[in-house]
Amino acid sequence: MPQIRLDKFISERTEYTRSQIKQLAAKGSVAVNGTAVKKSDTKIDSEKDTVTVCGRALSESRYRYFLLNKPQGYVSSTEDTDGESVLKLIPSELRTKGLFPAGRLDKDTEGALLITDDGELAHRMLSPKHHIPKIYIVKLDRLFENKYINQFANGMVLANGDVCAPAKVRMAENCEKLAFVELTEGKYHQVKRMFAAVGNHVQFLKRVSLGSLILPEKLGTGQAMELLHKDVENLFEPLDFDLFFEKFAPIFSANLINN
Ligand code: URA
Repeated sequence: MPQIRLDKFISERTEYTRSQIKQLAAKGSVAVNGTAVKKSDTKIDSEKDTVTVCGRALSESRYRYFLLNKPQGYVSSTEDTDGESVLKLIPSELRTKGLFPAGRLDKDTEGALLITDDGELAHRMLSPKHHIPKIYIVKLDRLFENKYINQFANGMVLANGDVCAPAKVRMAENCEKLAFVELTEGKYHQVKRMFAAVGNHVQFLKRVSLGSLILPEKLGTGQAMELLHKDVENLFEPLDFDLFFEKFAPIFSANLINN
């Protein structure tokens, strides 16, 4: 059982300083397993004990993980360069120092983006070695053509000569301008450039899964939810594209079919 001082545990997970934590504890605003603890140097078991500060439960992990449903118009960087940073979408009471987007979506792309302060996890996630599959829903300018399936599967050559890893693509049911694409790599503007290479054009793009972490229906565009460490491990689990398609494609397509 990993014993740790309560104030250290809290300061690693919030923006409170040790002296602020001491004051909060003295006021009765810090609880361990539901009971107020007035002395902030009390030792706790960081794996078993549940700590709340001002009523908010802190996660067991010292790192924070948020799944953001990114809206258009925000940039995937920590600074407001060329638009507002996606970090602005993390509610201010949950935003702690060191958070950054693990990966990038274009300014006009929506969907699943992990925001974390866990550099090791981000490195693992972005490393080409892991080939984490990512699924996108795409609205096209022109009708989907069945030949895309083989063209994507055979490793597409982009206009500048870049060769893509084999990718999967399927047209959505009931809409010939909607498709789902699964990539295992992340080249610059990759989905847009792949459809450009087959003579089509991406009108709208949204990432709907990262590994087997699927954007929950209840998470509205622009909303973020905190993830537990065990949810984050789903990033590294494969997701069967065809099963995803059967179960989730109708849900993600529904909002776009008539737009
Ligand atoms: N492919 C793109 O073209 N843009 C993104 O944001 C992500 C994948």
